[in-house]
Amino acid sequence: MPPTSAPERALTASALRVAFGDVVALADVDVDLVAGRTTVIVGPNGAGKSTLLEVLAGARQPTSGRIDSGGRTRSFVPQRAAASEHLPVTVREIVSIGAWGRVGPLGRLTAAIRHDIDAAMRRLDVAALARTPFATLSGGQRQRALLAQGLARGADILLLDEPTTGLDARSADLNRRAIADERERGVAVVCVSHDDRLISEADHVIRLDGGRLTPGSAPAR
Ligand SMILES: Nc1ncnc2c1ncn2[C@@H]1O[C@H](COP(=O)(O)OP(=O)(O)OP(=O)(O)O)[C@@H](O)[C@H]1O
Ligand SMILES: [Mg+2]
Repeated sequence: MPPTSAPERALTASALRVAFGDVVALADVDVDLVAGRTTVIVGPNGAGKSTLLEVLAGARQPTSGRIDSGGRTRSFVPQRAAASEHLPVTVREIVSIGAWGRVGPLGRLTAAIRHDIDAAMRRLDVAALARTPFATLSGGQRQRALLAQGLARGADILLLDEPTTGLDARSADLNRRAIADERERGVAVVCVSHDDRLISEADHVIRLDGGRLTPGSAPAR
């Protein structure tokens, strides 16, 4: 039998704390993300799940604590799209934004990058909407386009906030399949979710309540 290699840590976060004035949103939180594994963050509304994901994504500075991602790239799809809902851009442009970090100094989309943008749109079944203004999409179509944007980044770590919430069965399936495919490609995936199927398919579940890890948060496999 070949020796089993140790799981590759993609990101290590320790002693994370986030305070908004008097409100402590996160306290004493340690998280390890592993390449090729899916981690799901669960907990009640207001538990600090989105705050934790934002910190892991590097989108929010913790009040204290450490994060080491060893220079790995991260792609974050937030719970609510911010500005893009009102921008006059097409679905293809929204998905292409995901690949901006891969564009060279001349600002050209290479054939390989265009291929990845097209592939991401097909995987989330938004290719037929490529020329449609993003602002005119339904909520579920927007969510799929934004996940396609997250995939187009081709990052080592994919962070998704409630990627199946509010979706019909078929759209939720598409998103779960995309998540499973990224895991197979060796991406460290972390999702905030209340989706029982996504939770049951996860390698690792982190439970948060009142900003703290609760017993039952299994160690990374
Ligand atoms: N920008 C902010 N300013 C002040 N308080 C905030 C801010 N963002 C979050 N909070 C507070 O931090 C706590 C955690 O919020 P967070 O959004 O992380 O929860 P959540 O677990 O993602 O909830 P939900 O399931 O409703 O999405 C809540 O008490 C919230 O009110
Ligand atoms: Mg949230």
